[in-house]
Amino acid sequence: MSSADIHYLPEQPAHDAEIDLINEEAFGPGRFTRAAYKIREGGPHERALSFVAIHQDKVIASVRMTWIAAGRGRALLLGPLAVRPAFKNIGIGRKLVHIAIDAAREAGAGAVVLVGDAPYYGPLGFRKIPTGQLSMPRPVDPERLLAAELKDDTVASLTGEVRHAALAEPSLA
Ligand SMILES: CC(C)(COP(=O)(O)OP(=O)(O)OC[C@H]1O[C@@H](n2cnc3c(N)ncnc32)[C@H](O)[C@@H]1OP(=O)(O)O)[C@@H](O)C(=O)NCCC(=O)NCCS
Repeated sequence: MSSADIHYLPEQPAHDAEIDLINEEAFGPGRFTRAAYKIREGGPHERALSFVAIHQDKVIASVRMTWIAAGRGRALLLGPLAVRPAFKNIGIGRKLVHIAIDAAREAGAGAVVLVGDAPYYGPLGFRKIPTGQLSMPRPVDPERLLAAELKDDTVASLTGEVRHAALAEPSLA
């Protein structure tokens, strides 16, 4: 399969059912217990900054972005990111992360935060957030709490409890 056969689009409501299946396949029932999932329960994701990869009219990968707030900072939480097994390791995950980050920058976001593997996300511009700076609603390995800074000093402004932006002070939401 050539990468020319794969198209990247902003997510639409019509993609929801396929995205749910992809996330179920990638993460299993345990996905509901993850810290990032708990934050995402606080409100909707930002569809305009979330993307799918399409092959022959089917969704084969998805990345979602959700506005979050922590302390006086505001950022986007990236995830879930999932690629269907038959399409892994051909660059789709990386491409979706690049597209999502570019869209986040365009939208004026100062940082993108995620919980994930540093060996994968490091080359995509993510660095570990200093241990103890942020508190997640469920325990996470501090080595996996990462951020890509898009505007100077945004990551430092993210402190304390991470929440969905819709649950933050009105001045931040
Ligand atoms: C992780 C995932 C999104 C990567 O997507 P992908 O399209 O297969 O990956 P890409 O083609 O962009 O990148 C492949 C490279 O990343 C590496 N890689 C994949 N997952 C990795 C991980 N968890 N840690 C480190 N490296 C990883 C591959 O070994 C490969 O390396 P290479 O380029 O040196 O051969 C995909 O494997 C997936 O859906 N996994 C299950 C869900 C998941 O774990 N999501 C991430 C949550 S943080």
